[in-house]
Amino acid sequence: MDRYLVFGHPVRHSKSPFIHSLFARQTQQELEYGLAEPAVDEFAQALRTFFDQGGKGCNVTVPFKEQAFTLVDRLSPRAKRAGAVNTIKLTDDGVLLGDNTDGAGLVADLKSHGVTLADSRILLLGAGGAARGALAPLLAELPNELVIANRTHAKAQQLAAEFCDLGHVTAQTYEQLAGPFDLVINSTSASLQGELPPLAPALIHTDIAIYDMMYGASDTAFISWAKQHGARQTMDGLGMLVEQAAEAFTVWRGIRPGTKQVLRELKRNLGVI
Ligand code: ATR
Repeated sequence: MDRYLVFGHPVRHSKSPFIHSLFARQTQQELEYGLAEPAVDEFAQALRTFFDQGGKGCNVTVPFKEQAFTLVDRLSPRAKRAGAVNTIKLTDDGVLLGDNTDGAGLVADLKSHGVTLADSRILLLGAGGAARGALAPLLAELPNELVIANRTHAKAQQLAAEFCDLGHVTAQTYEQLAGPFDLVINSTSASLQGELPPLAPALIHTDIAIYDMMYGASDTAFISWAKQHGARQTMDGLGMLVEQAAEAFTVWRGIRPGTKQVLRELKRNLGVI
């Protein structure tokens, strides 16, 4: 049977095996999908061993995405732009192809929620790996302007400079930000510590769309905060998780699984509904 897995550390709580087994059942594909948690300095060896032993493809998550970028034989254009690899496929001619489906997953999820990106004004919070992966797919939707704000301003400036050939991208400090924005995407890891990015409440209005790439069984700190200040449309990163997985499954199997029912089952599994 074709074998796939996700590499991460820690990865025990990953929902990817659950999601991919549902995709496989739905599309009647015979495959198995497991977990691998190598020590941080043993990822390269573990990756090689997996493919030497017949593995067909894998996902890569924190903290290995940047390392995976350097270990594959060939990069897709979107992985090259993202500077990170979350999906690897062994091609028929034996080449390890590195891809990145995170940004496509974000855009697919935003669209599934009816968020209009064309001609919009987007605020992206954070300038780490998650922000980098999102930029090219977001700009491909032709927003009017995309503003990056980050605690360490220099990193936002660096990203804006790197992506300015793809659209109207600027970097502003949190203090400089002036609304109105149509969409705010939180790519920071602040929620992990129960913290908030230092965003002025005045930037939140009733027609704004709020997206937090993080998710949990209850609202993230950022989503709770945005709701308190009047945001009516809030979305967490669970849909992005399912959509990036669907994109990876499509890369591997050449068949696109449906995501709606899988997202519903995942929410049930997590106790969200
Ligand atoms: P990831 O790969 O998930 O993007 P990362 O590369 O470590 O992770 O980036 C984390 C991002 O969250 C960074 O933009 C970080 O800001 P700095 O560049 O200033 O470190 C941001 N971040 C983390 N905690 C934050 C907090 N409490 N408030 C605001 N931004 C925060």
